[in-house]
Amino acid sequence: MDKANVNELLEAQAHVWNHIFSFINSMSLKCAVDLGIPDIIHNHGQPLTLTELLAALPTLNPTKARNIYRLMRILVHSGFFAQQKLSHGDGVQEDGYVLTNASRLLLMDNPLSVTPFLKVMLDPILTKPWDFLGIWFQNNDRTPFGTAHGKAFWDYAGHNPKLDNFFNEGMASDARLVSSVLIDKCKGSFEGLDWLVDVGGGTGTLGKAIADAFPHLECTVFDLPHVVAGLQDNGNLKYVGGDMFECVPVADAVLLKWILHDRNDDECLKILKRCKEAISNQHKGAMIKKGRERREEEWAKLFFAAGFSNYKITPILGLRSLIEVFP
Ligand SMILES: C[S@@+](CC[C@H](N)C(=O)[O-])C[C@H]1O[C@@H](n2cnc3c(N)ncnc32)[C@H](O)[C@@H]1O
Repeated sequence: MDKANVNELLEAQAHVWNHIFSFINSMSLKCAVDLGIPDIIHNHGQPLTLTELLAALPTLNPTKARNIYRLMRILVHSGFFAQQKLSHGDGVQEDGYVLTNASRLLLMDNPLSVTPFLKVMLDPILTKPWDFLGIWFQNNDRTPFGTAHGKAFWDYAGHNPKLDNFFNEGMASDARLVSSVLIDKCKGSFEGLDWLVDVGGGTGTLGKAIADAFPHLECTVFDLPHVVAGLQDNGNLKYVGGDMFECVPVADAVLLKWILHDRNDDECLKILKRCKEAISNQHKGAMIKKGRERREEEWAKLFFAAGFSNYKITPILGLRSLIEVFP
């Protein structure tokens, strides 16, 4: 092999290795969160040396201490921690770990913490289906989750209160972050509405934030009966249990956050038709979606097929956008 071919071969191998081992990034991040490392660094208030970090991990098995350095090296490389020089009085300098913007979002006391979302998404119940992707492509199951666990996710969660809680908390943590951006940047989309229903609104994190920010607006959080069971109506916020495939409570506008992104076209069409029936003619339905899961043409086709006449996409939520759909 000539030199150019050898380089190409090694680059190709590195590319494959990067993809084989990319799970190490997410699993190392989960491990750091499980060990409470972001909070330990935060509570220290200044760059934390490796020795100090080891001392702050009381449950660490001492025979494994040197692997913490390796863990931290991965997380520095992936941008979750950085290293800063720390000067001692005697002129000796040492490296200390500090947080980055990304790891600040993992702190327990950060109201916009994404840790609950990380914990549910990297839970083995949700990572196992990825192992079954190849098998799923060859069978008749609707989702890889069904192939891995023998039932649909919502069915599984409905019979597993621990997962259900965990999942709802993960969703709520995302809703906290999104609501703070949405209310700030999309005020105009809510002004002029009297009655909004958040379809599949979970335990009502987004609904509550909208109800607080727009006191003139009646806000209904609509979700499966077991999700809203026991949740108390409060002022202009109320909870309704039901099935969005059957009927959506009447309102001026419907909000759908993370409802259509994991549904096939037939299901989306059914949900959108129920939403169209729920809103009166002169108002609009607002939607938030994850950016890449359907292309704009695919969304447009679904909206028109469900009987909506127009839509507007506002890309204000990082990876996601606000989509307003008009009757
Ligand atoms: C991915 S979560 C999104 C939750 C929330 N909108 C958010 O973004 O944080 C999907 C929600 O849809 C609800 N859901 C699933 N099937 C439903 C159905 N048939 N009728 C009403 N809600 C349903 C789930 O219970 C869950 O709360």
